[in-house]
Amino acid sequence: MRPKVFITREIPENGIKLLEKEFEVEVWEEEREISRKVLLERVKDVDALVTMLSEKIDREVFENAPRLRIVANYAVGYDNIDVEEATKRGIYVTNTPDVLTDATADLAFALLLATARHLVKGDKFVRTGEWKRKGIAWHPKWFLGYDVYGKTIGIVGFGRIGQAVARRAKGFGMRILYYSRTRKPEVEKELNAEFKPLEELLRESDFVVLAVPLTKETMYMINEERLKLMKPTAILVNVARGKVVDTRALIKALKEGWIAGAGLDVYEEEPYYNEELFSLENVVLTPHIGSATFGAREGMAELVARNLIAFKRGEVPPTLVNR
Ligand code: DGY
Repeated sequence: MRPKVFITREIPENGIKLLEKEFEVEVWEEEREISRKVLLERVKDVDALVTMLSEKIDREVFENAPRLRIVANYAVGYDNIDVEEATKRGIYVTNTPDVLTDATADLAFALLLATARHLVKGDKFVRTGEWKRKGIAWHPKWFLGYDVYGKTIGIVGFGRIGQAVARRAKGFGMRILYYSRTRKPEVEKELNAEFKPLEELLRESDFVVLAVPLTKETMYMINEERLKLMKPTAILVNVARGKVVDTRALIKALKEGWIAGAGLDVYEEEPYYNEELFSLENVVLTPHIGSATFGAREGMAELVARNLIAFKRGEVPPTLVNR
C-alpha cells in the first residue's frame, strides 16, 4: 500500500504530480484555510503532511496523527511547527530553503524602493484623478523621496535571504552592514559587508532590512528602544516574520517621525487589519508575498516532493530541519 500524504492547500501541479507517483495524495482544495477541527480530523490516517506557514503544527496535531512520520512545510520559515515535539516523536520536519531566496530578496528590494520613492502614493495620485484635478503638470517639491544609490543598508539576519539582499544592494552601490548571530567572514569579503552589533547597525543605516527567522531570540527584536536608535530618515523593511517587530512601537515611530517609513510584507497576525497603520502614508504594505513568484512556488512544490520521496525511500530528506 502506498503511504498517504495530505496537502493542506493546492500547491503547484509539478509537486503534486511528483508525489502522485509514490504516494496516495489528498489535497485540501478550498481557497480558505483548513479549519483546525478539520485538520485534526484529516491527519488521523496520514503518513505525511504538507503544511503551510498559516497552520500551527503542534503536539495536538501529532497526537491526532498516529501514523505521521514527516511534515514538509511549504515555506522556508518553520516557526509554525513545534520541531522539538516532532523530534521527540521521531517525526521529520522539512522546509523549502534556496528556491525562494531570490524572490524574497527581490520583494525586500521592491519594498525598499517603493517606500523610499513613494511608489504607492504616486500611483494613487495618478489613478484617482488627483493629479488631473490639481491641474499641475510637475512640481519640484512633489513626492520627494530618499536616495537609495550609494546609501547604507543594514541587514539583520545574514542567511540566504539576507545575503541575497546584500547582492542587490551591491548593485546599488550601497555600503552594506549586517548583523547576525555568527559572523560570516567569507561572505563579508565577497560582498564587502561589515559586521555590526545590532544597535550600531540601527544607528548607521539608511535602510534596515529584516531577514531573520522568528525564534525566541528574534521575537520583538525591533522594539521601541531600538526603533529610537534609527535615523529619522531611515526606512525599515520586514520580509521576515511580523513578530520580529513590535507593531505598536513601529506605528508610534512612524507617526512621531523617529523613522521615515516602513515597507512590510509580514504582520503579527495574518490576515492583518489595522486602521491606525493603514492610515499612515509612509508605509507600503504587501500581504506576505515574499515567495509569491511562479518560479519560487514551483521550486517549493518540487522541493516538498523531493523531501517526501527521499523519506519514503529511506533516505535523508534534502532539507531536513530536525537534525
Ligand atoms: C517562507 O517561506 O517562510 C516565506 O515567508 C513565504 O513567503
